[in-house]
Formats: sequence, C-alpha cells, structure tokens
Amino acid sequence: MESKVKDTSLAEKGELSIEWAESRMPVLMRIREVFAERKPLAAIRVGASLHVTKETAVLIRTLVSGGAEVALCGSNPLSTQDDVAASLASSGVKVYAWRGQTADEYYWCIKKVIESRPNVTIDDGADLTASIHEMNPEYIEDILGGTEETTTGVVRLKALAESGKLRYPIISVNDAYTKYLFDNRYGTGQSTLDGILRSTSVLLAGKTIVVAGYGWCGRGIAMRSRGMGAQVVVTEVDPVRALEALMDGFRIMPIDEAAEIGDIFITATGDINVIRKEHMLKIKNGAILGNAGHFNVEVSLPDLESISIRKRTVRNSVEEYSLSDGRRLYLLSEGRLVNLAAAEGHPSEVMMMSFANQALCVQYIATHGRGMGKTVHKVPVEIDREVARLAIESLGAKIDQLTHEQSKYLKSWESGTI
Ligand SMILES: NC(=O)c1ccc[n+]([C@@H]2O[C@H](COP(=O)([O-])OP(=O)(O)OC[C@H]3O[C@@H](n4cnc5c(N)ncnc54)[C@H](O)[C@@H]3O)[C@@H](O)[C@H]2O)c1
Repeated sequence: MESKVKDTSLAEKGELSIEWAESRMPVLMRIREVFAERKPLAAIRVGASLHVTKETAVLIRTLVSGGAEVALCGSNPLSTQDDVAASLASSGVKVYAWRGQTADEYYWCIKKVIESRPNVTIDDGADLTASIHEMNPEYIEDILGGTEETTTGVVRLKALAESGKLRYPIISVNDAYTKYLFDNRYGTGQSTLDGILRSTSVLLAGKTIVVAGYGWCGRGIAMRSRGMGAQVVVTEVDPVRALEALMDGFRIMPIDEAAEIGDIFITATGDINVIRKEHMLKIKNGAILGNAGHFNVEVSLPDLESISIRKRTVRNSVEEYSLSDGRRLYLLSEGRLVNLAAAEGHPSEVMMMSFANQALCVQYIATHGRGMGKTVHKVPVEIDREVARLAIESLGAKIDQLTHEQSKYLKSWESGTI
C-alpha cells in the first residue's frame, strides 16, 4: 500500500524544512555518511512510530542511507508536520501520518506499519510495540528488537517485561545520558514554552507558572520559565525531587494549593489526573492549562468537560472552557504535549543526540538482536559515549584525555593521604 498523508503537494515545503534540520544535526549527518558507506541496515525493515517532525525525517533518511526499508507512522494524533510527512512519502518512505487524527485513524496507521513486517521497531510511547504484542503476535518472529524513545514508553515496556510478556528485546534510548539529560531537560524546557507562546502569545514575566513534576522535563520547564521572569511553583509526589526543586530555588506546594495561585499550569509527570475537578474548581479565571507529558491524561479532560457549560476554540491550539460561575479556563492542544502540538517539538540540536542514539541502537539491534534477552536494555555505554564525543567534535570543542598515570591512579587503592 502507498503512503497516506494529508497533502502530497506540501512535499517541497517539507523538503526545505528537513534541509533546515539537517543543517543543525551534524552528528546524525556524520552517522549518515558512515551508514551510506557501510550499509549496516541492508535488508532490514524498520517500523517506526515517532512524532513526524523534520528531525524525525533526518533520522529516517539516515536509516534509509544505511540500507533500511522504513515504514513510519506518528506517535501522537496531533504532532505530525504534514509537509514533512509529504516530503518523506515522496522520497519512497512508507508514511502513514497526518495531523489531527481520530483514535481509530491513529491506530489504523500503526496497523499499517505493523503490516510492513518490521525487523526492528522504533517507538515513542510504546503504542507500536504494545499493538504488535496484542494484535499481531504472529509477526514477532521477524523482529530482532526495538527501541523506545520516551519515559512513558519505557515505563510501559518495563511493566510488560516484568509481567513476563515482552517477546523481543528493547533498548531504552530514553535512558541514554546523551538523551534524557539534554532532550528531556533542555529540549522540553525550551519547546514547551515555545508551544505556550505560539498558541497564546501571553507575557510570561511576572506570571505564576505551576510545573507539576520535577523530573527531567519538569526541571527544564521550571528553569526556562524562571529565565523568562515567571514565578515558578513546583508540585511533586517524590520527596527527594521536591527537595531538589526547593534547593534549586523554586517554591513547592501541593497542587491543591498551587491551583489557587497559578496563572499557567504545565504538567510533566507521565501520570494520570494530576489536575482534576477539585483543582479546576479553584483555578483562577483566565488561567492556561498545558501538558508536556506523553499522554493527554495529565489534565483530566472528562473533569474539565463535566464542569463546563460551553467550549469554543478561540485561537489555534487554544480551547476556552466556560464554567457556570463565569470563570473561563484555557486548555492548550487538547491536553496533548504542547511542545509538539502547538510548536515544532524539540530543537534540532537536541534531537540530533536522541536520534543519533536511535540510529546507532538500530544498528546494534540489527547485529546483536537475536542474542539479546527479551527485556528492556540500557543503551550500550559505548554508544552513549560515542554520541557525546561526536557532539563535542561537531561543536568544535575539545576535552582532555586521561594520562597513563591518571588512568592507573583512578583504578588504584594504594595511594591515599600524602
Ligand atoms: N513533551 C516532550 O517532548 C517530552 C519529552 C520527553 C519526555 N516526555 C514525557 O514527559 C513525561 C515526564 O518525563 P520525565 O523524563 O521528566 O520523567 P521523570 O520520571 O524524570 O519525572 C516525572 C516526575 O513526575 C513526578 N510525578 C508523578 N506523579 C506526580 C503527580 N501526581 N504530581 C506531581 N508530580 C508527579 C515524579 O515523582 C517524577 O519526579 C513522560 O510522560 C515522558 O514520556 C515528553
């Protein structure tokens, strides 16, 4: 079956966008050169469920240079960049993705990728891997292994592995240092504010921004919000993370109290119903609710609908909910991850490192997949270090090397106080 995208005439615009990303992703381009020469993915079919962005296109083209045949669908109904999807489709990749899908359409696209009989899967949120396990277990014998891009997907796949039902090895790309320290923190931090600004155009200085969750994403969002002059309040359930937020200079309090003072709320927990009815009943008139976590479950949509008497779209990606007491609350991007739905996702420079890990992990699975245990594996340390090394090199920076003496000293116990 041919690709299914919104509008093939957008291909030329998408091409420019992909070229722009390529110019900012030198590490992935370096890997592409090596792949083109060595063809490590010859005869490998890759099935990918990823946000279809310009950066994803750079990854997909890198895999194709390595000899792979690729089928791609989105990993969220609202995050596909239609011009990029058109461009990839016009260059021969099987693409099943468009922005604004129903749940049925979203899963139809995943099904199409599964029907391409992948040998390696790339997932972002684990919908593809879970669907293969539930709907097409007969295809699993072809699969050497898969990768997972995000925290929520890793949580789901570890749960599958712990229940003894994971049937092929997964590499958790999310857990590479060169992924989560940069992508989750600086990427989400910047692009979440980008999404809020593009959709609302509000002034952030002087506002009270409530960040729910002080994980890698939450840290980045809190840091960047402060940088824009906002007063930042953090809510947490983990005492260590809460303490860290406090010592980083943020106020901490329960969401129930924060509800009364926040102007903008941003969830980044990977958890469900973090902002729910009892909080919505306290939130100030005019407040903005956004989510950066993977699924649209962090702000309870059923609760918001249940207390509203009217709903209308007032701007792109902004839904106004009118409550019976006259207050109005503004939900961004239907509660889906605002950085991808209302902006363009992470900057290319950050995705360069995440996707360099993806490309090298796909290569690793193509070579070693059959010998790997059916569990969730960490990214091999040599891949993580190689990505960091290439990133430093691409920035024109240099670092020191251990001398022989230092190397020996760091492995010894004999020398102490002198
Ligand atoms: N928008 C993006 O582009 C993007 C990028 C990376 C990750 N993600 C997603 O963002 C989410 C968070 O990822 P992360 O890497 O920061 O995860 P993380 O595990 O590092 O952090 C999550 C934090 O939320 C806290 N938390 C859980 N339930 C909570 C609750 N009810 N109230 C307050 N805090 C709560 C946890 O204690 C933890 O500290 C995940 O769903 C992940 O998949 C999104």
